[in-house]
Amino acid sequence: MDVLVVGSGGREHALVWALAASPLVSRLYCAPGNGGIADDATCVPIAATDIDGIVRFCRDNRISFVVVGPEQPLTDGLVDRLEAAGIPAFGPSAAAARLESSKAFTKDLCVRHGIPTARHAAFTDAEAAKRYIAGQPLPVVVKADGLAAGKGVVIAETQAEAMEAMDAMMSGQFGPAGERVVIEECLIGEEASVFALTDGKAILPLAGAQDHKRVGEGDTGPNTGGMGAYSPAPVVTEALLSDVCARILRPTVDALSAAGTPYKGVLYAGIMVTARGPFLLEYNVRFGDPECQVLMPRLKSDLLPALMATRDGVLDSLDLRWHDDSALTVVMAARGYPGAYDTGSVIRNLDAAAAVEGVTIFHAGTERRDGEIHATGGRVLNVTARGRDLAEARARAYRAVDLIEWPQGFCRRDIAWRAERPRQGVA
Ligand code: AMP
Ligand code: GLY
Repeated sequence: MDVLVVGSGGREHALVWALAASPLVSRLYCAPGNGGIADDATCVPIAATDIDGIVRFCRDNRISFVVVGPEQPLTDGLVDRLEAAGIPAFGPSAAAARLESSKAFTKDLCVRHGIPTARHAAFTDAEAAKRYIAGQPLPVVVKADGLAAGKGVVIAETQAEAMEAMDAMMSGQFGPAGERVVIEECLIGEEASVFALTDGKAILPLAGAQDHKRVGEGDTGPNTGGMGAYSPAPVVTEALLSDVCARILRPTVDALSAAGTPYKGVLYAGIMVTARGPFLLEYNVRFGDPECQVLMPRLKSDLLPALMATRDGVLDSLDLRWHDDSALTVVMAARGYPGAYDTGSVIRNLDAAAAVEGVTIFHAGTERRDGEIHATGGRVLNVTARGRDLAEARARAYRAVDLIEWPQGFCRRDIAWRAERPRQGVA
């Protein structure tokens, strides 16, 4: 089969890497890909958001299956367009992708179906939002309604901070994503991510994985797209997983199917484990980035049949096997990220780093130019390692990080610090 992966980040590199190992795949393409993906797939210079361009490429090249990585093309209806053109594709329709593209949509669904989530109110009017904020206990959470690359959330400790965040969002900091603002109760507890494949009927949870959203060590500083991840995640226990499936995923999947917009794809639930049980923080309609980079190395089964069964609606006939090993990834980002950063710097000695036992380097924002790898984004490399346990995976990943010559980059040195307790996570 000839397969196309859409996207250009570390998540897509991990998907490409896993698909490249499938005996079912003959030709593997990635649009647009990056400097590292080019080692495992043929990169084609079509932007992930260029829906016409992608459909045309698939027709011209008789692509038999498309795997869409990022949320933006899903939200824009890429899967709808591909399917309408007779090209099978993995990922939710635009209607189902509203679970991520509109926080207000998801909140309404939760309220209607009794899914535990933070109390909230949505506003398009700044004055009404301010009056509401004034009546809320602190801290209070202020969110841009639409897609904002993981950065549209402020946990405000004071009323003034909350008002300021709301003003910034409504005055266009995140473009149209901030035209509507959601104000939420702040939940206290430990965060967990739950990933599951679903075809609109069956729900197949994946191995547990956890990321680090804050830029600074000890999980401090501004939110980012994710600075590292590990799997298994001790917080994702069997008990938590069955609770999340029963109270959160099952009613969501059933509600979307009943509405005539079944969800097919990977559903990523951001959970807060509170004293009152798991609460839904948010849904994402795609694999986590960088969580995907630790799930793929642990996946023993062939990825392609799982993605195809999800799309074909026969997921109940499928089972996934996982390696017992742990996996951990360290994100190397350009200095300044998640604020302003420079691009174009040269990264050296990647081959030596990739030769460390158990290590695979996924590229997130690079290009190969004149035989050298250049940084092109904020998050640039995902230095990933497998090991007997998280401690071994972590030692290997940082050994590789220390071999990489890239003075313009930085990383957190404490990935998986919350997982230092004895292992109990699932899979
Ligand atoms: P989201 O994009 O909605 O997942 O929010 C990003 C991050 O903000 C989450 O991973 C949490 O760390 C935090 N967060 C979001 N909503 C809440 C909430 N209601 N209570 C506490 N923390 C939250
Ligand atoms: N790692 C967080 C995300 O993919 O949204």
